[in-house]
Amino acid sequence: MAGAIAYISRDTDGVLWKKVLEAGLGPVDFRRLDALGDKTDIEVALAWKPASGLLASFPNLKLIVSLGMGVDHLLSDDKLPDVPITRIMDDGLIGQMSEYALYWALRHHRDIDKYAASQRARTWKVEDFVDTIHRRIGILGLGTIGQDTAKKFAALGFPTAGWSRTAKSLPGVETFHGRDGFRRLLAGSDILVNVLPLTRETRGILDAKAFAALPKGAYFINMARGGHVVDEALLAALDSGQLSGAVLDVFNTEPLPADHPYWTHPKVHVTPHIAGATNPRTASPGVIENIKRLRRGGELMHRIDPKAGY
Ligand code: GLV
Repeated sequence: MAGAIAYISRDTDGVLWKKVLEAGLGPVDFRRLDALGDKTDIEVALAWKPASGLLASFPNLKLIVSLGMGVDHLLSDDKLPDVPITRIMDDGLIGQMSEYALYWALRHHRDIDKYAASQRARTWKVEDFVDTIHRRIGILGLGTIGQDTAKKFAALGFPTAGWSRTAKSLPGVETFHGRDGFRRLLAGSDILVNVLPLTRETRGILDAKAFAALPKGAYFINMARGGHVVDEALLAALDSGQLSGAVLDVFNTEPLPADHPYWTHPKVHVTPHIAGATNPRTASPGVIENIKRLRRGGELMHRIDPKAGY
């Protein structure tokens, strides 16, 4: 049998991954974190938040597959071995992410929380309406998730813009890039959606200056990483009214500590990092193809560039 596949995740037991990999590759020597056995056998590691140094302890490792679309959980390991890293490309996850952004944006756009409060008070009150063509959406990050999200907002008739590190163009979406473009994107975002990768350049990018650059009363949806946000700056922007609300799926510390002010803040919705969950059924075809390519010496798909950080 070919080399072993290690499944490094504390979040799920890997039963479904084993099943889908066997359907595509035939019998696999699949080893879970608690039963890694002889580490010299391990050829491929499927990993989500591995302990620092663990991957370096597999001497014959040839490929690391990130079980998330983000790879910051791997690159933060300062002992990461020098082998190719690919990430999953999961249409199911991409669809969930854009759905999450659309759901919360529409809920805000149509004042659903205000109507829910009116209902609780038995009050028949009609809120002022902002027309769709006047509610500007800004998307930070125009990778596969950002592009899918931007396209769907644009299809609903929202003026939609996106920002990326390097210049990109997308039909029906205004695009910005670079430092100057970042400020311009923020200045025109009534609803800001963050889907950036977390890199050295983007850590803490959403600070007091960034929140101040948004239009007054802007709404913020973070479904990327908590590390993009300076929490004190976000809380201050919510409390001053600079932001009208925030939806947070990701946090600097996960699980979010029980005493964190986000849990009870009246303007904050918290979800437990569920905006997009990796689904082995939709994520596995690319992983299976890459393992086949690795074994026959072909070029790998969805490789990440550790220097760029994504
Ligand atoms: C989830 O956060 C992912 O990176 O896929």
